Amino acid sequence: MSVKIQPIRAIRGMNDLLPAQIHEWQYCETMISEVLAQFAYTEIRFPLLDKTELFKRSIGEVTDIIEKEMYTFTDRNGESLSLRPEGTASCVRAGIEHSLFYQGQQRLWYMGPMFRHERPQKGRYRQFHQLGVEAFGIPSVDIDLECLLINQTLFERLKIRNLLNLEINSLGIPEERARYREKLIHYFSQHKEKLDADSLRRLHTNPLRILDSKNPELVAVIANAPILLDELGAESLAHHRELLHYLDAVKISYTVNPRLVRGLDYYRHTVFEWTTTCLGAQNTVSAGGRYDSLVEQLGGQPTPAVGFALGIERLLEVMQTAQTPIFKPSLLVYFICEDTQEAYTQALHLTQVCRQTYPTLPIQLNCGGGKFKAQFKRADKSGAMCAFILGTEELAAKTLTIKFLRDARPQQTIEQNKLINFLGAVYNARAGLGESNGHLHN
Ligand code: HAM
Repeated sequence: MSVKIQPIRAIRGMNDLLPAQIHEWQYCETMISEVLAQFAYTEIRFPLLDKTELFKRSIGEVTDIIEKEMYTFTDRNGESLSLRPEGTASCVRAGIEHSLFYQGQQRLWYMGPMFRHERPQKGRYRQFHQLGVEAFGIPSVDIDLECLLINQTLFERLKIRNLLNLEINSLGIPEERARYREKLIHYFSQHKEKLDADSLRRLHTNPLRILDSKNPELVAVIANAPILLDELGAESLAHHRELLHYLDAVKISYTVNPRLVRGLDYYRHTVFEWTTTCLGAQNTVSAGGRYDSLVEQLGGQPTPAVGFALGIERLLEVMQTAQTPIFKPSLLVYFICEDTQEAYTQALHLTQVCRQTYPTLPIQLNCGGGKFKAQFKRADKSGAMCAFILGTEELAAKTLTIKFLRDARPQQTIEQNKLINFLGAVYNARAGLGESNGHLHN
């Protein structure tokens, strides 16, 4: 008796991206790289794994990510490694290691999977994808503004700007935060009975994290806590106000949210989040801020820095709500031929000539043989605009029959040596409808 083999399923919170979804991902990725090229940012790629110590030293020991969300393991050399939970730490590590920060200003971006062992739900996954943007070597507020402008430009191009709100705050400098920390400890100590276990634990280690709590029972006690903006000195306030001034100047609307502290420890001065009401609990689409001490903290020379990361899954959810039109590349030609070696060889030759002459033309040659009826079914399913047919008669007469599959144009037969001209006309007409990055679109 044979035993039925149980299929192995994917890890919870880690999703396959199927062919039906891939067009919207590729569309999004194309738009992102176009916007970043326009702002003259350069892509950087770093490994999915880094030493655990790197993340601990940058993100902060008393944060959700480090305390409970990292995928950490000991490798065969006995070294503790972690899957990257975010990109900023690795980006800074790479910049220091390759002396990028000695070469003046750096404007960088990266895109790819990040890993956090969170409880999966809509908009929250264990493997998710981020676009990260990081600018190094510029202390002035104009670069904070540039980060926000990149977000705004992308949201406008993806037709979702009206679904996003910008929240902004300033965390000042460490001395100002230290003063604020004492005030917070004092305040929350007076309301200890209202705190949950997580917050009690953080009361003396990292009280700012309490402000970031998602526990609805803490809303009231957090709402009455002292405000960090009140502790800021003149310089920090000036940086904050200047940014707000420029935001007004470029007409980016925002809300100053004095409770916004972010879940990572490296921030100074500006912090921001782009939130939406259409995602339920996981409502932050893009978030970031300034982290002027991190490069030095990781062993580099003092280098001011600012950046943000945008969750691609969440971005796509918002685009679905907005019904952003997405261009899908589609097949132009499905080539059908008599199921003989001779016909196939000639069809193969013609297909290759088409591919070489028009490098972005999508053309598929039938594989797996079959009767004409079966091949026509495949042609129809493929979504191709037309079928090329090479039967016995066409083979003998050196012709080709063209059947339009999506409109009422009559079938026509052309000489094989006129194929390139014929295809040129169809190809140019389609390309005129909109071509981007080598794809022909509907
Ligand atoms: P973050 O706030 O931890 O910041 O993450 C940024 C964005 O990544 C979130 O707003 C969200 O869209 C997405 N994201 C985070 N966790 C998940 C998850 N489990 N599932 C789906 N999406 C998620 C950072 O990562 C910083 N490195 C941002 C930064 C760059 N700051 C300065 N430079």
